[in-house]
Amino acid sequence: MSELNKIVLKIISNGKGILAADESNGTMTKRLEAVNVPSTPENRLSFRETLFSSKSMGEYIGGVILYDETIKQKTSFGVSIPDLISSSGAIPGIKVDTGTKDLANSTEEKITEGLDGLRERLKKYYELGARFSKWRGVYSVSKEYPSKLAIHSNAHALARYSAIVQESRMVPIVEPEVLMDGDHSADICLKKTSEVIKKCFEELILHKVDLSGIILKPNMILAGNQSKDKIFGEEVAQKTLQCLENSVPSEVPGIAFLSGGQLEIESTENLNLINKNNKTKFIMTYSFGRALQQSALKIWSKNNKDKELTQNTFNHRAKMCSLAAIGKWSKELENK
Ligand code: G3H
Repeated sequence: MSELNKIVLKIISNGKGILAADESNGTMTKRLEAVNVPSTPENRLSFRETLFSSKSMGEYIGGVILYDETIKQKTSFGVSIPDLISSSGAIPGIKVDTGTKDLANSTEEKITEGLDGLRERLKKYYELGARFSKWRGVYSVSKEYPSKLAIHSNAHALARYSAIVQESRMVPIVEPEVLMDGDHSADICLKKTSEVIKKCFEELILHKVDLSGIILKPNMILAGNQSKDKIFGEEVAQKTLQCLENSVPSEVPGIAFLSGGQLEIESTENLNLINKNNKTKFIMTYSFGRALQQSALKIWSKNNKDKELTQNTFNHRAKMCSLAAIGKWSKELENK
């Protein structure tokens, strides 16, 4: 077993998943302002420190994705954030893309940037304690999108990123996110997501990336959020499994889904059904941002002196996600 494969398994085995707390300052500002909290470095740290010191970290969270600001911060009790995460048994990770820009010659689409100087940045992140990283490509869906150009150029960037990350002895999370914005059907989402993922693996293989040392972070297969033909539960699970069975090489150890704007319970239920129906050998778990943090953020914004209240909310969500990652979640458990 390679070192990279060991890191992957430590992050996602046995019902563990990933806490995606890597919101850029821009995104975190939106999240905080939505609950009437000013977005200052101190407030961003205080919320994240509260989550990272909760008891669910050791039990259900195998890895935490951080943003550049957070990985360099120290807690109020003087410990570095990566050390706090490691002391719980989870592995610190880092988002290394620098965001999206308009794709030249198809400017309604996006290309993710951040390859320049990546090797040097990774060296610093490794010294700070990071052992895995994340890069997100985004694809919008319409009649003509994602275009072949967007599919190809984002796959190329994801593969170049992955090769450099593995060279730096870290595990790359490969995140091609087909957005749920739009009125497209679930079958269109299935078709486009399959095309996107297949192209990613074509490029990863071309760039000689060790597939046993990556984690794929895809979207689940859903109809667009404006669609009149929404699909739910079993159908989401069937179509998501169909997509992944047909487009992910068997060497890949695990898949950690993003929540992508689904509600907390909706994403948990879908993950549970995916695992109940999973006949593949892929581990299927979570790498949720909003679906792990939303309720906790609301509670924290109103009671930020009462750490325990926020932590209890987060612990519950993490436990529910972890049960879903082994197909043992049920709605009744939400109210216990
Ligand atoms: O890149 C996106 C995040 O890592 C996952 O966030 O679960 O809120 O979509 P989300």
